[in-house]
Amino acid sequence: MVKVNEHYLKLKAGYLFPEIGRRVKAYSESHPDIKVIRLGIGDVTRPLVPAVIEAFHQGVDDMANGETFHGYGPEQGYEWLAKVVIDKAYKPLGVELKASEVFISDGSKCDTSNILDIFGLDNRVAICDPVYPVYNDTNVMLGRTGEVDARGYYSGLVYLPCVAENNFTPAFPEEPVDLIYLCYPNNPTGTVASREQLQGWVDYALANDAVILFDAAYEAFITEPDIPHSIYEIPGARKCAIEFRSFSKTAGFTGVRCGLTVIPEELTAKTASGERIKLNALWNRRQTTKFNGVSFPVQKAAAAVYSDEGWAQVQGVIDYYMENARIIREGLGQAGITCFGGVSAPYIWLKTPQGMASWDFFDKLLNECHVVGTPGSGFGPSGEGYFRLSAFGGRENVQEAVKRICGKWGK
Ligand code: MLT
Repeated sequence: MVKVNEHYLKLKAGYLFPEIGRRVKAYSESHPDIKVIRLGIGDVTRPLVPAVIEAFHQGVDDMANGETFHGYGPEQGYEWLAKVVIDKAYKPLGVELKASEVFISDGSKCDTSNILDIFGLDNRVAICDPVYPVYNDTNVMLGRTGEVDARGYYSGLVYLPCVAENNFTPAFPEEPVDLIYLCYPNNPTGTVASREQLQGWVDYALANDAVILFDAAYEAFITEPDIPHSIYEIPGARKCAIEFRSFSKTAGFTGVRCGLTVIPEELTAKTASGERIKLNALWNRRQTTKFNGVSFPVQKAAAAVYSDEGWAQVQGVIDYYMENARIIREGLGQAGITCFGGVSAPYIWLKTPQGMASWDFFDKLLNECHVVGTPGSGFGPSGEGYFRLSAFGGRENVQEAVKRICGKWGK
């Protein structure tokens, strides 16, 4: 008799963003004349920049010609793309990497989930609370946890609360952990980690023989000069951290799909018998078995992001989104709504007016202002009483949303 993976049944009914989509669809269907402004899921709205489109077209044309056609590519991605990323995105930070340490993929949502394949189930895992739900749910799916409790915590995971009272800075776990997810600039709170804070985590990981899973999907949105863009800017990180990056938010690739994972050669973890194994080799084994690489035209397009022309154009789009973030942050702030983040990240994390529960505020905002955001509690119990607005909308929509929210909730 065939059986299901019962760990899936421990999960709350639906993934956060489809649930929001369902509520918005129901509302829109019953109110067809109302224009709903969507600042919920962090999905980009600006088109791919011209340099990227040109390279993408060129990649497609290459596939139409027997001389330049490409079949299966390397599962790790083309070396020329890895080298471009190293030269343009890492070298300027003072970070040296080898092409064999960079694995091109179809995005960091997949990689931050799939990476769990190479770690034993008995590892203790720490995640921030609130958190990008993928880190939590994929651990549940694998069977690393027990059931969820009344507050929304799964037994077997170590949660690190990040709230206004601790400046959204997680404390080190009180019990030893083996894997630690960190996401900076942070989704959902839009806050950042300083060099000293990241050094603290690297020191913790080295002292505890732990590995940091560092999600840097939003590094391109950093505007503050002293904030690290990569965990490898921190001394010691090559021995204890895996970094994930994405072209999704940086260059508008949410519908195109390209990301990358960096695993330094010297990063190892132990077998039960105490032997140290290179995680780079294990991930390579995993990828060559389960993944066939990213399409050639997509990798051509991704490389163009880092051409001089491409980067200038991409930076223009990032500036556009960050101006949206400023409009939201300052507009709401002036109206007396407490906001966090949005300075070096495309997310604004606000305190719900009058201490409303996050989902109640979601419903009110949708029904009364026709604006969609993401309820903080959807990211974890410590997100209750908070709400996330995305800066990835079009300018007019963002301005209109701020006007509507301030008109309704401003002091
Ligand atoms: C978000 O809104 O948190 C992100 O868009 C989700 C994602 O990147 O998968």
